[in-house]
Amino acid sequence: MATEKVSRVGVVGAGQMGGGIAEVCARAHTDVLVYESSRELCVAGRSRILRSLDRGVSSGKLTEREREQAVSRLRFTSDIGDFADRQFVVEAVVEDEAVKTRIFSDLDKVVADPDAVLASNTSSIPIMKLGMATQDAGRVIGMHFFNPVPVLPLVELVTTLMTSPDVSTRAEDFAHDVLGKQVVKSADRSGFVVNALLVPYLLSAIRMVESGFATVEDVDKAMVLGCAHPMGPLKLADLVGLDTVKAIADSMYEEFKEPLFAPPPQLLRMVEAGRLGKKAGRGFYPYA
Ligand code: CAA
Repeated sequence: MATEKVSRVGVVGAGQMGGGIAEVCARAHTDVLVYESSRELCVAGRSRILRSLDRGVSSGKLTEREREQAVSRLRFTSDIGDFADRQFVVEAVVEDEAVKTRIFSDLDKVVADPDAVLASNTSSIPIMKLGMATQDAGRVIGMHFFNPVPVLPLVELVTTLMTSPDVSTRAEDFAHDVLGKQVVKSADRSGFVVNALLVPYLLSAIRMVESGFATVEDVDKAMVLGCAHPMGPLKLADLVGLDTVKAIADSMYEEFKEPLFAPPPQLLRMVEAGRLGKKAGRGFYPYA
C-alpha cells in the first residue's frame, strides 16, 4: 500500500478540462507535467492556464506570488514517455472511447510506479472499459471534475469492480486533502451522478428550442430567473461544448437505451457545422 504523499502529477490533455485540472494541481503545490500531442497544443494549453490564473488574481482569489509559484510548477511535454515518474495521472482528453483506451494502454506501459493511480476525467464512458485497456485495472479510477475546474468544488469518484480499495482511498485523499475538492461517489454507470441528471435537462432545452416552444434567450432566462441557476441550459451547453454534450448523450444512450438520452437533430447539425459553443466562438450564442 502506497503511503507517500502525491507530489508528482501528470495531466493528459490541456484543453478546457485538462488545463483546469493542471491549474488546480499546480495551485495545490504539486509538480505538474501536462501532455499534449503537439508543441502547438502545449503552447495553447499553457496560454489558457495563464489566462485563468490571471483571472484568479484579478478576482482576488490568489496573489501575484501564488500565481508565479503555480506557473513555476507547470511543465509541458508531447512525449508520454516523460510520465514515467508520475505518482498520479489524470487523463482529460476528448470524450472518445478509442482515444482514451489507447492513452490508458500507453500510460500503463509508461508509468513505472505500480502504486501510481491512473484516473480518467471522462464524463460518461464507463471506467471499466479504460481499466481493461491496462494490465492492472486495479489502479484505474474515474475522477470527474466540473467546468470551470478552478471554480467548481466537486469531484465525482468512480470505482469499478476492479479498482483496488487503496487506489480509491488515495484518489479521495488527493481530491479532498490536496486539491481541496468535495467528493461524491458514483457507481460505474455511464454519466455518473451529475451528467445522468444534467444531460437530459440540456437535451430537453435543445428540443424545446428545436420545436419552437421557446427561444434560446427565453429558455435560459426562465431557468436563471425562475430557478436561480447561475446560467441557463443553452449557455451551459455552450460552455461544456456541444461536441462533448453529444458525446456524453451518445454514451448514455448506448448504455441505457432511453430516448431521453438520445441527442436531438439540432444538436447533431450544430456539431456537424462546427458550432461547438464557447470554445469555437459560436454555439447557441456568438462569442467574441
Ligand atoms: N480561479 C479562481 N476563481 C475564479 C476563477 C479562477 N480562474 N475564475 C473565476 N473565479 C471565481 C470568481 O472570483 C467568482 O468568485 P465569487 O463568486 O467568490 O466572486 C466566481 O468564480 C465566478 O466568477 P465570475 O464572477 O467571473 O463569473 P460568473 O459569476 O459569470 O460565473 C460561472 C461564471 C462560474 C461559469 C457560473 O456561471 C457557473 O457556475 N455556471 C454553471 C457552470 C456549471 O454548471 N458547470 C458544470 C458543467 S458540467 C461539467 O463540467 C461536467 C461535464 O462532464 C459536462
